[in-house]
Amino acid sequence: DQNLLIAIDGPAASGKGTLARRLADYYHLPHLDTGLTYRAVAHRMIEHGLSLDDAEQAADAARKVDLGNLDKGALAAHAVADAASRVAVFPQVRRVLVEKQRAFANQPGGAVLDGRDIGTVVCPNADVKLYITASPEVRAGRRLRDIESRGGSARVEDILADIVKRDERDSARADSPLRPAEDAHLLDTSEMSIEAAFRAARAIIDGVL
Ligand code: C5P
Repeated sequence: DQNLLIAIDGPAASGKGTLARRLADYYHLPHLDTGLTYRAVAHRMIEHGLSLDDAEQAADAARKVDLGNLDKGALAAHAVADAASRVAVFPQVRRVLVEKQRAFANQPGGAVLDGRDIGTVVCPNADVKLYITASPEVRAGRRLRDIESRGGSARVEDILADIVKRDERDSARADSPLRPAEDAHLLDTSEMSIEAAFRAARAIIDGVL
């Protein structure tokens, strides 16, 4: 059996997570949502009442992250996402998490990883790199439907403002900013259903196999 390593990046609420899960399922590969590792750092710091500006404490929290024990539920909160993008600017934090992410990526058979810097930093040698985008308005609309489907409510303007702020922080940071790798395949899903995005991604991947 051959090795297949798929790197998926993109901004908040671009649909990259859903796509990554579906591709992992389809190609029978393990999947790591690397956003959860940054969220886990932020969550631990909030729980312990630590300052999100303290890079050393954040690096300590990063060392304690266990990839096998990431609690999606506790990490889903909006406040955790925002805090995650604050601790994600620290090189000390990124170094620790990237090492864990690479260990996951290098398991025999391959893997699917999604995040912001997978194609550029974590797995520059990935077999396929996808960069998933959609307009901020479309992403905000999807996030709203997501929240509503779980019984919550929110204002689309607030979601849009949060998304734009987080993208800006993720794109402007010095260490591993959000950007497509030179050899990434760009997929704008603004006008695509999940199913259509899944088909388009498969066509790209099957084209390089
Ligand atoms: O993808 P998700 O929304 O869970 O990511 C939360 C935050 O974690 C992002 O806004 C980003 O700041 C950070 N992150 C990162 N690098 C990754 C994945 C996530 O900096 N590979």
